[in-house]
Amino acid sequence: MRRIFVGDLQIKEEERNAVNEVLDSQRISEHKKVKEFEEKFAEYIGTKYCTSFNSGTSAMIAGLESLKYHPDLKIKEKSKIITTPLTYIATVNSVMKANFNPVFVDVHKETFDIKADEIKKLLEEEKNPEEYSLILPVHLMGYPADMDKINKIAKEFNLHVFEDSAQAHGTLYNGKKTGSMSLMSDFSFYIAHNIQAGEFGALVTNDKQISILTKKIKANGRLCSCDVCTRGEGKCPHQNNNSDIDYDPRFIHDIIGYNFKTMEFQAALALTQLKKADYIFKKRQQNVKYLNENLKEFEEKGILKLPKFSTDVSYLAYPIVIQDPFKISRKNLRKRLELKGVETRPLFYSIPTQQPAYSFLKQRYLNKLPNADYLGLNAFYIGCHQYLEKEDLDYVIKIFNEILK
Ligand SMILES: Cc1ncc(COP(=O)(O)O)c(C=O)c1O
Repeated sequence: MRRIFVGDLQIKEEERNAVNEVLDSQRISEHKKVKEFEEKFAEYIGTKYCTSFNSGTSAMIAGLESLKYHPDLKIKEKSKIITTPLTYIATVNSVMKANFNPVFVDVHKETFDIKADEIKKLLEEEKNPEEYSLILPVHLMGYPADMDKINKIAKEFNLHVFEDSAQAHGTLYNGKKTGSMSLMSDFSFYIAHNIQAGEFGALVTNDKQISILTKKIKANGRLCSCDVCTRGEGKCPHQNNNSDIDYDPRFIHDIIGYNFKTMEFQAALALTQLKKADYIFKKRQQNVKYLNENLKEFEEKGILKLPKFSTDVSYLAYPIVIQDPFKISRKNLRKRLELKGVETRPLFYSIPTQQPAYSFLKQRYLNKLPNADYLGLNAFYIGCHQYLEKEDLDYVIKIFNEILK
């Protein structure tokens, strides 16, 4: 039976050579490949700086933690962060783990992004808007959040914006790449994403302090943060020559951090995919377009809602919403697709109302997030990745026809 995976990374000669090059260099912890990736990825997104991490979740936690130590931002721990209920759980876990308080606003039903107008309404009605520090939109499935509106609201209420671009590698919003339109942004290069490296992540920013702080936080809060250590040449800028003790800045820690460092292999793999980013972007779009053209009958019949097509979107996958659960339920459709080898995933569940780990928020948000609640139970996705060819897509279309006709 044919298998249509949600995501795939095929290790071919180029990828194998990249990993072998790391092995031959005898240096597998962070070094030249990580630095090269950081430079090239910042250039690709259009930001000044990039810090690599062992995952997108680590990038988010470190980015959020960096706000507390930033000399100019004055962001208080436990302040409120406005975010979306419909996202992969890592978004909200990072907010919690960095000791901030998430506040949820509903999403658009078609493009899954947070409703900017409702953010504004919430802040206008709030008695203590000064308790809020940040807006954290997620560009889910590659669809961009409405960054112009969000940035305008943030300015009006004196807030900062952090984009979660884990799922949007190369998406354009008014000509700018997602991840380049706010204070900082995280990316995940998890296996199913467009630029892939197994487990790997990055944080991009134009703010030098955030770049320095995130490099420190990921290395257990180490005092020094130079790209290349010049201690051996006696040029260390952190060396305290007036101290009597043998003072080694690599083992002096001035903030409490984590070990979120990555490995050369991951950066080497990600570099091979970054080179193909434009091809991946286009190929996924073509696949979405082809599936849309050939499944439209099910949208016209009121059974499925197919993904909105745009040449600006870098598709993470092919999201589908059940239009009428009485015609066919998500559970039934997913089960039958899986039986025929078409892999599926639910569109994440609404975090405060449908995720057991957040059940302490359930009463507060019950019936307040109708779109996220609906999508959390009735939306799912299948693959549209770059390794899928016409015959794979035709197979998917045939299976949908068998199940739904
Ligand atoms: C929206 C979103 N944010 C954050 C993350 C976290 O990334 P990672 O899985 O690399 O930790 C993901 C991962 O898929 C994600 O989809």
